[in-house]
Amino acid sequence: MKTSIILFLLIMVGAVKSYRILVIFPMESGSHYILGSAVARTLVEAGHDVTLVSPFEQKNPPKNGTWRDVVLPGLMHNDDNDIEFNFMDMESMSPFLMIPMLNMMGDMITRNTLEHKNFQKMLNSNAHFDAIILEQFNNDALKVLAHHYKAPLILFSSLGANSWFNPLIGNPSPPSYIPEPLMPYTSDMTFWQRLENFVFAVLSELSRQLIFFPAQNRIMKEFFPDVPDLSILNYNTSLVFVNSHESTNQPVPRVPNMVDIGGYHINPPKELPKDLKEFMDNATEGVVYFSLGSNVQPSQMSDSMRRHILVALGKLKQKVLWKWDEDTIPGKPDNVRLSKWFPQQDILAHRNTKLFITHSGLLSTIETVYFGVPILAFPVFGDQKLNAAFAVGNGIGLSLSIFQLTEEKLSDALREIINNPKYKENVKRRSKLMHDRPVKPKDLLVYWTEFVIRHKGAPHLQVAALDLPWYRYLLLDVIAFLAVSSVLFVVLFCFIIRKICCSKEANPIEFDFMDMESMSPFLMIPLLNMMGDIITRNMLRHQNFQKLLNSNEHFDAIILEQFNNDGLKVLAHHYKAPLILFSSIGANSWFNPLIGNPSPPSYIPEPLMPYTSDMTFWQRLENFVFAVLSELNRQLIFFPAQNRIMKGFFPDVPDLSILNYNTSLVFVNSHESTNQPVPRVPNMVDIGGYHINPPKELPKDLKEFMDNATEGVVYFSLGSNVQPSQMSDSMRRHILVALGKLKQKVLWKWDEDTIPGKPDNVRLSKWFPQQDILAHRNTKLFITHSGLLSTIETVYFGVPILAIPVFSDQKLNAAFAVGNGIGLSLSISRLTEEKLSDALREIINNPKYNENVKRRSKLMNDRPVKPKDLLVYWTEFVIRHKGAPHLQVAALDLPWYRYLLLDVIAFLAVSSVLLVVLFCFIIRKICCSKEKSKQKVKKN
Ligand SMILES: *[C@@H]1O[C@H](CO)[C@@H](O)[C@H](O)[C@H]1NC(C)=O
Ligand SMILES: *[C@@H]1O[C@H](CO)[C@@H](O)[C@H](O)[C@H]1NC(C)=O
Ligand SMILES: *[C@@H]1O[C@H](CO)[C@@H](O)[C@H](O)[C@H]1NC(C)=O
Repeated sequence: MKTSIILFLLIMVGAVKSYRILVIFPMESGSHYILGSAVARTLVEAGHDVTLVSPFEQKNPPKNGTWRDVVLPGLMHNDDNDIEFNFMDMESMSPFLMIPMLNMMGDMITRNTLEHKNFQKMLNSNAHFDAIILEQFNNDALKVLAHHYKAPLILFSSLGANSWFNPLIGNPSPPSYIPEPLMPYTSDMTFWQRLENFVFAVLSELSRQLIFFPAQNRIMKEFFPDVPDLSILNYNTSLVFVNSHESTNQPVPRVPNMVDIGGYHINPPKELPKDLKEFMDNATEGVVYFSLGSNVQPSQMSDSMRRHILVALGKLKQKVLWKWDEDTIPGKPDNVRLSKWFPQQDILAHRNTKLFITHSGLLSTIETVYFGVPILAFPVFGDQKLNAAFAVGNGIGLSLSIFQLTEEKLSDALREIINNPKYKENVKRRSKLMHDRPVKPKDLLVYWTEFVIRHKGAPHLQVAALDLPWYRYLLLDVIAFLAVSSVLFVVLFCFIIRKICCSKEANPIEFDFMDMESMSPFLMIPLLNMMGDIITRNMLRHQNFQKLLNSNEHFDAIILEQFNNDGLKVLAHHYKAPLILFSSIGANSWFNPLIGNPSPPSYIPEPLMPYTSDMTFWQRLENFVFAVLSELNRQLIFFPAQNRIMKGFFPDVPDLSILNYNTSLVFVNSHESTNQPVPRVPNMVDIGGYHINPPKELPKDLKEFMDNATEGVVYFSLGSNVQPSQMSDSMRRHILVALGKLKQKVLWKWDEDTIPGKPDNVRLSKWFPQQDILAHRNTKLFITHSGLLSTIETVYFGVPILAIPVFSDQKLNAAFAVGNGIGLSLSISRLTEEKLSDALREIINNPKYNENVKRRSKLMNDRPVKPKDLLVYWTEFVIRHKGAPHLQVAALDLPWYRYLLLDVIAFLAVSSVLLVVLFCFIIRKICCSKEKSKQKVKKN
C-alpha cells in the first residue's frame, strides 16, 4: 500500500513541467534561513527554477537545477538606530512589549527589503514568476509581489499556526485553549492565564488592524503606488505552509488551505566529520548536546550563570558538546568540547546522543522529536517558552528558566532526564508519530506548490469566513437580535415542543420521501431522534448481531457510520479497539462537537438547511437557532435516550457522555471540489470520492443505446430512497412532456415497468450502473436528487446537473452545486413543464455549466493521495498507534462556557462596569469637594 502511494507521487512529480518560483525569507537569522533555503532546495530538486530572496548567499546550491540568489544583507539595520538585541535580556520581557517591538522590526525589514538595490534590480528585470512563497513574519506589505507578478500567493509560517495569519485566511483559533505563540502556556490554562491570553489576542489583533497594517500599507504604496490597498491583498492567500506537526505541536483546527509540513527541512543523516565521529563513537556513557540556537550568544551570559553550568556539566559521566560563540571558556571541564558550529541534525541522529539542552526553538524541537532525543529546555524568547511548555506537557523533557538557574537545579534536571527512562520512551513514541504520515512533508511542499500553480490559485479552498465582517462572523448581530426579541425565541421553542409531542402520535416508520420536500427541517429533529433510537435498539438486539457479540471475535478497530446511533460507540469500548467514525454527509454537527471541530454557524449552514455560506440575516438567524436547538436536543433528549438503550445491553460500561468523546478519527465523505471548505481538526480525514471505481464496460444494449446517442444522453435518477412512481399524475405529465421535447435520449430510473405516455426517446429501468453512465462521453446532463453520492460522482466524471432536491442534505448540496455554477436546481412540488424545459435547455446549451463542472472535476482528481489510500492508511495508523489522542484538540476537555470564554468575558464586563462606577464615584467626590470648598470660600 505504501509503495503505491510513493509510486503515485513519483508519477505526479515526474510529470510536471518546470515552474519559476519566488521564495522570500527576509529574516536575518540562521533558523529562518534554514527554513527558507530548505524550501528553495526542495523545489529545485523537484525540477523548478527558484529565486530565493534572503539576507544570505547559498554556498552549496543543488547541482541539477536552477537556484538564483537575491542576497539582501543588512535588513536589520537602519540609519537612526541599529537594532542590536541581547536576546538573553528578552527572557524576562513581557510578551505585551513584544507587540510594538515586532511592529517596529517588521516595518524596518519590509522597507529595507523593498528599497534594497539588489531587490530593486530583480524588480526591474523582466523576471516573471508562477508563484510567490513568502515567509509571513511582520512583513505583510511584501504580499504586493503576488499582485505585481500576477502569481498566486503562498505564505510560509515558521511558527506553526498563529494569529499573524489565522484571521487572514479565516482559520478559527479559540483563545480558550490555543495559547498565543508568545505566551508560555499550554492548552491547559487557568482562568487568569486564559484571561491574559484572551486580552493578548485582542490587543495584538487591534494593534495589527489599527497600527501595523496601515503602516505596512503606507510602505507598500511608497514603492507600488497603483496597487489595491493591503486590506484587499492581505486576504488573497492561496495556501499557507505551516512548519508544524501534531507530533510536536498542539493539535489545532485548520482550514483546507493550510498544509502542515513540519519536518520538511530535515535531511537523512550524513557522516559526521572524522574527529567528531570518533568523539561521539567513543562516548560509551553517551553525549549531551548543548546549543541555544543561532540568535542567542551564550558568551553574553553572566559569569555566575556560566560557573553554575560548568560545574554541573563537569559532574556528568557523559561527554558534552557545547555550541559556544568564543574559542574557549576559562575553567572548561575535560568532558566538554566547544565549537562555534555543530552539524546538529547529524549529532541528534547519533546513537550515543542522550540529551539535548536547547533553547527549544521550533526547528530544534522538531528535530529532537524527529530523531527521538529527550530535551532540557532553556527557553529565552519568541515562541520558545510555548514550545518548552508543550515539550514538558508531552513528557519529552524538562524546562528551566535560564535566570533562576543554579548548579543544583541543573544537576537535578540532567540526572532526572538521563536516568528516568520515561522521557526517552515518550520522545521515541512521538518520533514514530512524526515519521508515520501518508505523504512526506517535502513531497507535500512540492505537490501543493505545483497544485496552486496548475489551478492558478485555490479560491475553492478559501472558507467563506473571509467575506464576513467580524461582528457577522461572531454572529453578534444575530445574538443581539435574539437578546432583544427573546420572546420570539421562547415562542418558537414552545412551538417546537408542541410539534415534537404531536409528531409522536404519527406513524413514523413508513416514509413517503417525496412528502418530505416541504417539511420544515425543525421537524426533522424529533424524527431523526426517533429513527435513530429504533435503529440502534433493533441493531443491538438483532439475533445476527447478538451472535457476533457472543462469538469470540476480536477487532483491531471499529468503523461506525455516525448516523443518530451514538449508543453503538459502546462497541469500541467492548472490543477495546479504537473508534473511527464515518460521516456520510460531510462535516456536520452530529460529530463536530464530539471531536471539538469548530463550525461557526455564521457561514457554515447546518446540513438540513437549504443555504450556502452566503446567508442573509434571517437565514443566519434560522441557521443559528437550528444549530442551538439541535445541540440542546442532542444533549438533553437524544444522548440520554441512546445512553439508556446502550445500558440496556451493556449495563457495566461508562456513560455515553464519556464514550462519546473518545473518537480517534473521523472519515468524512467530502471534498472541497464539491463541498464547502470548512475548518477541520487534525483527526478529520476527507475521503470524498473513495467509493468511485474506474468505469466498467456498460451492458451491451445500454452501451449501444448510449454510443448511438449522437445528440447526447440525459440521465435521470432520484436515488434509491425516493420512489418516483409516487409522484402526482400532473407532475409526471409535466416531466414526460418536457423530456419528450428533448433531442437527447433519456435514461430514467423508474421503479415500475413502464409509464403510460412514455415518449420514444425515454428508456426506463429499475436500476442503472450510475457511475459507468456518468463516465460515458455522451452523457450531457444528470437530473438528480443531489444526494451527496450523486453530487460527488457527477463532479468526479464532470457532468452538469439539474437538481431536484427532496429532503435531508439534498437541498444543501443543490444550493452548493448552483453556487459553484455546475447546474441549476428546481423544487419538485412547483415543477411545471415550462420551468423544466427552460432549465434543461439552459444547462444543455450554455457551455458554462460544463466548463465549471469540468474544472471542479480536475480539482477532485488532483490530490496528493487517492482517497481509497487515505482510508487504508489512517485506519492502519489508528491501529498501529492504538488510537490517536495526539490528534484530539484540547477543546474536548473544556466545558462549553469555558470554550466560548464566557467566564472571561463576564469577568471583563463586570470588572469594567465596576471600574466605571468607581471612576465616576471618585470623579464626583473630587468635583463635589471642590464645589464645597468653593462654597466655603464664598461664605467666608
Ligand atoms: C536532483 O538531485 C537531488 C539530490 O541529488 C535528487 O534527489 C533529485 O531527484 C534531483 N532532481 C532532478 C529533477 O533530477
Ligand atoms: C488574488 O489571487 C488570485 C489568484 O492568484 C489572482 O488571480 C487575483 O488577481 C488576486 N487579486 C488581487 C487583487 O491581486
Ligand atoms: C577513541 O577511542 C580510540 C580507541 O579506543 C582511541 O584510539 C581514540 O584516540 C579515541 N578518540 C578520541 C577522540 O577520544
